Amino acid sequence: MLSVSKLNIYYGESHVVHDAGFELGEAESLALVGRNGMGKSTLLKALIGMIPARRGTILFDGADLKDLPSFRRVAAGLAFVPQGRMIFPQLTVEENILTGLETGRYRSIPSFIYEFFPVLRDMKNRRGGNLSGGQQQMLAIARALASRPKLLILDEPTEGIQPSIIKDIARSLNELKKELNLAILVSEQVLSFALEVADRLMVIDRGRIVREAHKDSLNIDEVRSYLTV
Ligand SMILES: Nc1ncnc2c1ncn2[C@@H]1O[C@H](COP(=O)(O)OP(=O)(O)OP(=O)(O)O)[C@@H](O)[C@H]1O
Ligand SMILES: [Mg+2]
Repeated sequence: MLSVSKLNIYYGESHVVHDAGFELGEAESLALVGRNGMGKSTLLKALIGMIPARRGTILFDGADLKDLPSFRRVAAGLAFVPQGRMIFPQLTVEENILTGLETGRYRSIPSFIYEFFPVLRDMKNRRGGNLSGGQQQMLAIARALASRPKLLILDEPTEGIQPSIIKDIARSLNELKKELNLAILVSEQVLSFALEVADRLMVIDRGRIVREAHKDSLNIDEVRSYLTV
C-alpha cells in the first residue's frame, strides 16, 4: 500500500533524512524508533506533506504523493497525529474532531469514533485544553480518524503520557487496526510500546534507516542500544 523509496529531506542546506525507504501493507503496523533529533518527525512530516521531500518517491496505492499538498494525501487515505498532539485548546472536543473532516469526504463525525472513545462523547462539549494529556492524545487520534484513513501516522504518541495511559493507547491502536483494517506507522522512543503496537520495527539513526525487521527477528538489545544516549 505504502512504498517509500530513496527519500531525502532537507531544512535549507541541512540534509536531515538520507535515502529513507520502507514498505507498509494494508492493516500492517510499523514502528520508527530512534533517539531525539534522529529525524523521526522530519520523515513523518514529509510523508503527510507538512515539509517537502527533495528527492525520492512516496507511492500510496500506486500513486506518487511526494509533490501533492497535504489535503490531497489525506483524501488519498493518510492521516497524521502530530508530536505534541496539537489539538485546538479553545475548541470543544467535538469541534476538534470536526476539524479532521475538513479535507475528507464526510460531513459528520463517523459513529465509530464515539463508540470507540466513549470518554470523548462524554466530554464532547468541553474545551480541548481542559482534557488530560492522555485524553488529548485520544482526541488527536479521533480527529485523525474522522477522515477514515487507511493509514494512520502517529508521531511519538506516548510523549509526556503516564505509563498506565500508554497501555490504554496501545490497546486502542491494536483494536483500531483490527476493526478498521487500519495500517499504522508510528514513531517512538518507548520500545515496549513500539513492540506492543507494531508488527515490524525500523531504527533511524542520524537520518538513516539502519535496521528494519519483524519484531520477532530483531535483536532487541541492539535496538535498545540505538535508543540509549
Ligand atoms: N525546522 C527545522 N529547521 C532546521 N532543522 C530542523 C528543523 N526541525 C528539525 N530540525 C533538525 O532536524 C533533525 C531531526 O529532527 P526531528 O525533529 O526530525 O527529530 P526527531 O527524531 O523527531 O526527534 P524527537 O524525538 O526529539 O522528536 C534535528 O537535528 C533537528 O535539529
Ligand atoms: Mg520528533
